[in-house]
Amino acid sequence: MTRAAMQTASQSELQIVRSVADLRRQVGAMRGRGESVALVPTMGALHDGHLALIRHARRRCRHVVASLFVNPKQFDRPDDLAAYPRDEAGDREQLAANGCDLLFAPGVAQMYPAGFATSVNVAQVTEPLEGAHRPGHFAGVATVVAKLLLQCLPDVAAFGEKDYQQLITIQRMVRDLDIPVEIDGVPTVREADGLALSSRNRRLSADARARAAEIHAVLTDSADALADGRGSAATILAKGRARLGRAGFEPIDYLDLRAADDLTQLDRADRPARLLVAAWLDGVRLIDNVPVVPARR
Ligand code: PAF
Repeated sequence: MTRAAMQTASQSELQIVRSVADLRRQVGAMRGRGESVALVPTMGALHDGHLALIRHARRRCRHVVASLFVNPKQFDRPDDLAAYPRDEAGDREQLAANGCDLLFAPGVAQMYPAGFATSVNVAQVTEPLEGAHRPGHFAGVATVVAKLLLQCLPDVAAFGEKDYQQLITIQRMVRDLDIPVEIDGVPTVREADGLALSSRNRRLSADARARAAEIHAVLTDSADALADGRGSAATILAKGRARLGRAGFEPIDYLDLRAADDLTQLDRADRPARLLVAAWLDGVRLIDNVPVVPARR
């Protein structure tokens, strides 16, 4: 995209549509002019991590469509859904300021009309990690993302690496179902102390927030040790779990070394890998991950 085109996009007004028919009409007009479209699916409560997705989408395509839908099907606990932060007015301001052209903000009845009976299940990559701790979560994610991709039919859709298993799941689904959309992963945005941005961070008490960055420190130190082959993965991960425990994380759902492409469990970093963690701090569940790039030996 040229600088002039980006400027025009950033100055353009944010349009809002709430029905699939209106979304298709607007995206159809963009496509009719031969212009490319990127989609950024979100559940709102936007922070800098989402805005990095919007900026990435702007670099990739002429138009950026964001969706805002708090998807009830991907919450395994009703209290988590009820506590999910909502601020459509604030989200709209941030989207407009960052060059998003079109916001698709459907209601639940638009996405799941009475009689809705379909679920998209992606096997294998969804089974460990989050899948083992949040039953039904990835079927909810895959179902809503399949719908959003088919409703909008963008050229590109952008997802954060912060939810790495989600990214791999969506890439697998799009490949398996021949959905003609390129899926881009965008690096995690972090606070100065390393804590990954997340809408859940605002639930942390001041004291917990001060300790929360230890999760990233444990990830990076363990990833370095794994990449250098300093001991077995089992020993390095046990030390990492113990360190998280000392910082007050309890329980630790997992701290696991997995293959970067298909999330199979690894006992050493002898291929591109990912170190993933989920752990609770003062009642708030935090997840994060980093790449593990095997050192040349
Ligand atoms: O990552 C999220 O915010 C959600 O899981 C997504 C991809 C928007 C689907 O609801």
